[in-house]
This record gives sequence, structure tokens and C-alpha cells, in this order.
Amino acid sequence: MPFYHSLGKIPPKRHTQFRKPDGSLYSEQLFGTIGFDGMYSNLYHEQRPTQVKEIKKQYSVAPKIAKANNMQSYRFRGFQVPPENDYLDSRKVILTNSDCNIILAAPKESQIDYFYKNTDADELIFIHKGTGKLRTHMGNLDFKYGDYLLVPRGIIYKMDFDTEDNRLFIVESYRPIYTPKRYRNWFGQLLEHSPFCERDLRKPTELETYNENGDFLIKVKKQGEIIEMVYASHPFDVVGYDGYNYPYAFSIHDFEPITGRIHQPPPVHQTFETDAFVVCSFVPRLYDYHPLSIPAPYNHSNIDSDEVLYYVDGDFMSRNDVDAGHISLHPAGIPHGPHPGATERSIGKTKTDELAVMVDTFKPLKVTEEALKIADDTYYQSWLE
Ligand SMILES: [Fe+2]
Repeated sequence: MPFYHSLGKIPPKRHTQFRKPDGSLYSEQLFGTIGFDGMYSNLYHEQRPTQVKEIKKQYSVAPKIAKANNMQSYRFRGFQVPPENDYLDSRKVILTNSDCNIILAAPKESQIDYFYKNTDADELIFIHKGTGKLRTHMGNLDFKYGDYLLVPRGIIYKMDFDTEDNRLFIVESYRPIYTPKRYRNWFGQLLEHSPFCERDLRKPTELETYNENGDFLIKVKKQGEIIEMVYASHPFDVVGYDGYNYPYAFSIHDFEPITGRIHQPPPVHQTFETDAFVVCSFVPRLYDYHPLSIPAPYNHSNIDSDEVLYYVDGDFMSRNDVDAGHISLHPAGIPHGPHPGATERSIGKTKTDELAVMVDTFKPLKVTEEALKIADDTYYQSWLE
């Protein structure tokens, strides 16, 4: 996705005869986005990727909305989401709008007997706890604590976890997720002032290829439903591909913070962008070094966006009583800022160890029933002395 990548075997010229050792043709697939205008890859399959054998169950996994029009600041205790065996069952939508779903998940088991494909949303999976391997039909990515996994829509994948102790923060985006445009030159290359560069983006280097026939279950997510489809050939049958559309990983620990003499605004933390929300990484960094600087943020009115902060690790200097796994939701339209005492407490501090992921959505977020199960209902009063 961020730049050209080639993996496995491909023919020298696209859309030409590419033959197997037995003389038969590999099956070419153009795998593109935004019609024929977006990023794309050309894949070469052992078998035709079109062999639907059976369409089985179809059922809703749409979030149940508890508050459609929310003006209350919330804290959600993310680690109170109970672990569940199955990866898809474990995914609980906490906040949602027509552009994205913000999800917490604590899956215990790897996907053994099915594949998964989200056909209308890119998935950004942040690994808070757990290690393992993201296996896809376009190659595999090892993951560990602090990794963002970016899985573009349409990628068929499985999550293999090493242990049962996993915590994920996931954003499903109906808008394509890109690196910030202002950090790229007109060729797409990340510029010198970008807080990360191409070397920090990990691309798939391991390709699993199976030329097998049988019954292969793919759970396909489309418009808030799962459609269970059985394919007649193994979905991981790609012998090679090239292009710009593929999954990749980026570690939050590789984000190089931008600091200044006075408090820097949130855009310096930006890591990903869409035209509907941004994702920012707050990482350990030196504080502002003006002699009269106040490291804690000023009160701010995010008039045009709902602000979701997912606390990962470290000490969260502007908040009282916030732990790892918590989410704060500060809705558009009302100001928020440091908790009582946090501004004074920050003066004279020289660095922070905080680690957090922020999602700012331009449309308001609806609060789900799953969110209220883990909500601190009094958080909105926490700025009172
Ligand atoms: Fe804020």
C-alpha cells in the first residue's frame, strides 16, 4: 500500500501468458481499490479465485446503538471486555458512525477452521497484548506488542496467536486508510519531516501457497453482516504478486516524536489519515523546553471531531485515574482538558513515558450497548474540583 512491492513469482509482462511447470496457465487477478483509480496489485493464483461452492448462513453483526446522539464524555475500561475464544465473536464495537467502527477484542484462540475477509472496510489492528502471525493470501506478517497491522479491504486473512492473552484495538474504516498526505512528496515518498519512513513499514516477505481443493469456509463481512461462503479451492493459492495494495505493519515504537519549545498540537502525532478520521500515536518523548512551558495540553474544544484516546502504557499526565486499556471519549461540541491539578503537576517535567493511540472522527460517534457495559458513567464530571 505505501509503495511498490513484489513477492513470489510473477511474469515479466502483465496480462500475458504465465504458465505452470505442467504448461497450464496461472490465474491472474487484478486486486484494486477505488474502481480502477486507486492502488492495486496483480496476483497470480494456482486456481481461479472465483470458485464459490456454497453460500451458507448470513447474519447480522451490526452494533447495537445505545446512544445515537451523545454529548457525554466517557471513560470505558477496555480490559473489562471479556476474553472470548473466537476471533470474530470477540470483536466488540464500542463506538460507531457511518465511516468507521471502533472495536475492542480479547480473542483467545487462533482462527483454525475459517478464513475472514472484510469486504467493505480497511482494518487497522493495534496489538496491545499478544504475539503471533497475521496470515493473508498476500503474505504473512509477524506481530507483537505495539504493532499496527493495516489490512486493506478484501484481503483474506487468519489471525494466529501464540497464547490466549491477547488485547486488540481495531478500527474498521469504510474510507481507505493512508499515511498522511502532508508527509509525502508528489511521488508518494515519505519526506524528511515525516515521523516515520518506508524502512519502518514492514511488508509481507513470507507467502503461503497451497494448491488444494476441498471445502474452504470464508466468513465475509459486508454491510454489517457476515456471509459464510464455501470456496472449492484454498484461498491461499497465490504464487506471486506485485503492486501497491497489500497488508503491512508499523510499530508504534518506530514513531519518532516531534517536539518543540512550547506545546505541540495533536497533528504532530498523526500516523494515518482518511477523509473521515485521523489516527495519532502518542509516544514517549521529551517535553516542551521553553523556560515557562506548560507540558500538559491546554483546554480545547474539538468542535468538529469526536476524540477517542486509547491508553496503552506509561503514565498519562493529563488524566487522573486512567489505566492501560482505558478509552476516553470526548465528544465534539464541548471543551475538555487536563484534570484538576494536572496542569500544575506537569510544570517542570522533562519527559513522558505515555503510549496511546488517538482516533479523531469528523462525524459524531454513537455509543453502543457493549460500550455502556464497560463505561464509567461519572467520568463526565471528573473535571469538577
Ligand atoms: Fe483532547
